[in-house]
Amino acid sequence: MSGRLHARGTERVHKNVWLEFARLAADYKAVNLGQGFPDFSPPEFVQDAFCKAVSGGHQMHQYTRPFGHPPLVHILAKFFGRIVGREIDPLEDVLVTVGAYQALFCAFQALIEEGDEVIIVEPFFDCYQPMVKKAGGKPVYVPLRPVSGDGSAVPSSGDWVLSPEELASKFTPRTKAVVINTPNNPLGKCYRLEGNAVSHIMWFPATC
Ligand SMILES: Cc1ncc(COP(=O)(O)O)c(C=O)c1O
Repeated sequence: MSGRLHARGTERVHKNVWLEFARLAADYKAVNLGQGFPDFSPPEFVQDAFCKAVSGGHQMHQYTRPFGHPPLVHILAKFFGRIVGREIDPLEDVLVTVGAYQALFCAFQALIEEGDEVIIVEPFFDCYQPMVKKAGGKPVYVPLRPVSGDGSAVPSSGDWVLSPEELASKFTPRTKAVVINTPNNPLGKCYRLEGNAVSHIMWFPATC
C-alpha cells in the first residue's frame, strides 16, 4: 500500500466548474444559467407514470437486470433502431445508465488505456476532459470554427463547422476515440450521422 489516500489519477483532474459557477451565482445573486431550475412541474402523464411505477407492490421494488430493465431496453432498442437505421439487440447493445455522466465515465474507463488519445470537439461539455484524463488518456482538441457569412442571415449554431481536414490532422497512431456531442452543449449545433441526430457519439476507430 502506498499510504496515499486518493488515487494518483485524481491528480490529473482539477476543480469542477459547476461548483465554482453555483457558488458565484449564489454569492452575487445572479441567475444561474449553468443549471436548470424549472419553475414548472413535469407533464401530468409523466407524474402519473411515476406514481404507477412505484405503486405496483413489492415486485416493483426489486433489483432489476443490471444492464437495464428488460421492458425499457426493448423499447429503447426499437426507438433508437429506427433513428440509426439498423437493428439493435436490446439485450446486447443497450446499457441503461444514470444519466450521461455515468455512461461517459463507464465508456472512458472501459475503453481508454494509458496514453490513448481522445479527440474532443471544442467547445465541449466540461466533463469529457477530466474523464479522459482520469482514465489515463490524453485529450486532443479540434475546434468548431465559425463560417463568415455576408451578415444578412440570422446567426445560428449551424454557422459553426467542423473541418474534416482539421479533424483528420488530429489523428495519430494513439487515437482511440472521437467524442461528438450532438446537439452540442453549449452551441446547440447538430451533427448529422447518415441524416439522423444522435446525442453522444463516442466513435472508437479501430485500435492502431
Ligand atoms: C453535453 C452533456 N454531456 C453530459 C451531461 C451530463 O448529463 P447527465 O446530467 O445526464 O449526467 C450534460 C448535462 O447537461 C450535457 O449537456
